[in-house]
Amino acid sequence: MANDLIQPEKSSPSSSFPRIIGKSEPIKKVFAMIGKVCSTNSTVLIQGESGTGKELIAKALHYNGNRAAGPFIPVNCGAIPTELLESELLGHEKGAFTHAIRTRQGRFELADNGTLFLDEIAEMSPVLQVKILRVLQERQFERIGGSKTIKSDFRVIAATNRNLADEVKHGRFREDLYYRLTVLPVFAPSLRERLNDIELLAEYFVKKFNRDKERSIRGIEPEVISSFLNYPWPGNVRELENVIERMVILAEGEMLTVADLPERFVNGTSSALAGDIQEIPPQGFCLSDVVGNYEKRIIIQAMKQTGWVKNQAAKLINVNRTTLLEKMKRFKINKEDFV
Ligand SMILES: Nc1ncnc2c1ncn2[C@@H]1O[C@H](COP(=O)(O)OP(=O)(O)OP(=O)(O)O)[C@@H](O)[C@H]1O
Ligand SMILES: [Mg+2]
Repeated sequence: MANDLIQPEKSSPSSSFPRIIGKSEPIKKVFAMIGKVCSTNSTVLIQGESGTGKELIAKALHYNGNRAAGPFIPVNCGAIPTELLESELLGHEKGAFTHAIRTRQGRFELADNGTLFLDEIAEMSPVLQVKILRVLQERQFERIGGSKTIKSDFRVIAATNRNLADEVKHGRFREDLYYRLTVLPVFAPSLRERLNDIELLAEYFVKKFNRDKERSIRGIEPEVISSFLNYPWPGNVRELENVIERMVILAEGEMLTVADLPERFVNGTSSALAGDIQEIPPQGFCLSDVVGNYEKRIIIQAMKQTGWVKNQAAKLINVNRTTLLEKMKRFKINKEDFV
């Protein structure tokens, strides 16, 4: 399985990079894409909601590719003010500006023979977008205040939690840079789209936090997993990781039970299913996808509650059996994925 390939610890013993966990169809597509593109030099754009594992995917691409022995250099374009970001990326010569007391290499230079990870690329200012585009095209640049042309052999992986095509449509992101970046697009699926992975991820995080926090939780009760399946996970895998961390630390017994769940999970299944409407993201969403996803979660829950007896599940949610079968087919709900 592609997942087994993604173990960068082998190539980079000092890296604290964890494995990408998952067996669902959407994550398998990501593994397949990583396998196909990790050893090319083409630019990759990873898009996905916050906490879906974009940075993990970027590292998997680097550590499984032919640049694994080179550096992985991350830059968070959203966290650094524009003027600083330019000098972070290009470097500067001594005396280029007031605080430039010594010459400093930029991240483009540091990423020579390796990967430059441009995180939160949508936050980059339009002025800088122009400059970056030039560097990406020419693969050479000058440090700020310098005249020497510097060449660097880097591969770019960019990531964003916005819909970059929309940003282009609204004039907030340059179209030419967009096309330059999106040679190989990778989509990190939301946790809602990969319910099959929730249990696996939860167990993985229990093991992780048992180790980190010196606890010995033996497992997770099925009711907890049911609550997880009914929750919309706006913060995706990061949110699940945080929830498990908290539960592992605070749990009284050997198993994680509903009593250990944070408040927001304990409103009972029906109100969780009624579901508070999450804030609609600024880039909008597709109503039919969201509703479809919701339907899918309800059907999975009904099937679980009735031990996968279709007649009973259909009765429970007041649809006829044929409708239920048709929907299960459409949403690719297979018992084997859940038991
Ligand atoms: N499939 C996965 N398997 C194991 N851990 C995961 C997986 N996906 C995400 N994580 C973990 O979830 C956390 C968030 O992942 P990451 O930082 O890569 O997300 P992100 O998409 O870059 O988020 P943001 O948009 O907020 O920057 C990390 O601790 C990461 O290790
Ligand atoms: Mg990130």
